[in-house]
Amino acid sequence: MDKIDPAGFQNILFFTGAGMSAESGIPTYRGSGGVWHEYNWEEYACQAAFNRSPEKVLNFHELRRTSVLGCKPHQGHFIIAKMEEQHPGVTIVTQNIDGMHQRAGNHNVIELHGSLWRVRCPAHGISEDMGEKYTTRKCPECDSWIRPDITWFSDMLNEEVINNAVSAIEQCDLFISIGTSGVVWPAAGFPQIAKEKNAFCIEINPEASDFSGMYDINIREPAGKALPMLFKQN
Ligand code: APR
Repeated sequence: MDKIDPAGFQNILFFTGAGMSAESGIPTYRGSGGVWHEYNWEEYACQAAFNRSPEKVLNFHELRRTSVLGCKPHQGHFIIAKMEEQHPGVTIVTQNIDGMHQRAGNHNVIELHGSLWRVRCPAHGISEDMGEKYTTRKCPECDSWIRPDITWFSDMLNEEVINNAVSAIEQCDLFISIGTSGVVWPAAGFPQIAKEKNAFCIEINPEASDFSGMYDINIREPAGKALPMLFKQN
């Protein structure tokens, strides 16, 4: 495949899923060894489970924080970070909650499903909480259980975040999807939006996804191998 010249595009959008972090050692959700094979999300990652047993849900998310802190960004993350440094129109729209893009140096990151590194009090809003363990499990102001600032299954999506993501996708002329199975909406519909706006669409995924047919190029390689080969070095 010919290398892509980033200078030939005005707005480059990287759309990433769990497969982007797989080579960092962070398990995907649905592939072999996926998180949802080991844990039933209905017991660990939804509002009903949190209401039933906040401690159990917080323990699960502390396990995930510990595991992610033991991992680091891989070469593919750093390539995307360098792209944002060198090119004025780069946006990352990620479904991932692991913060790996930010740890690699990206700033323009839209986190569709929230973050392992933020918590929410129903009355006092969202705050950053970066450690392995939560600083506190109850809000110091009102004693409510703090909740991970993550969009769980059956949660209402954050309208503003989704609108920001859609607007960035509508403006991109290069859309690069990396490591997503394309099964969770509305993110699953994002490649279609890019295509309808005539963006050049590339899929990087060792396996086909439901929407593989609509991409201009399908690169059946892992992210850490595909990204170093993707761009022309200016
Ligand atoms: N490089 C690129 N892609 C990879 C790699 C890799 N090294 N390893 C696996 N993949 C691909 C798999 O082939 C699969 O298509 O990554 C994809 C991971 O799919 P999922 O586990 O379903 O993850 P994702 O698409 O991000 O899930 C979306 O579902 O559970 C919810 O909120 C959660 O954000 C998540 C959403």
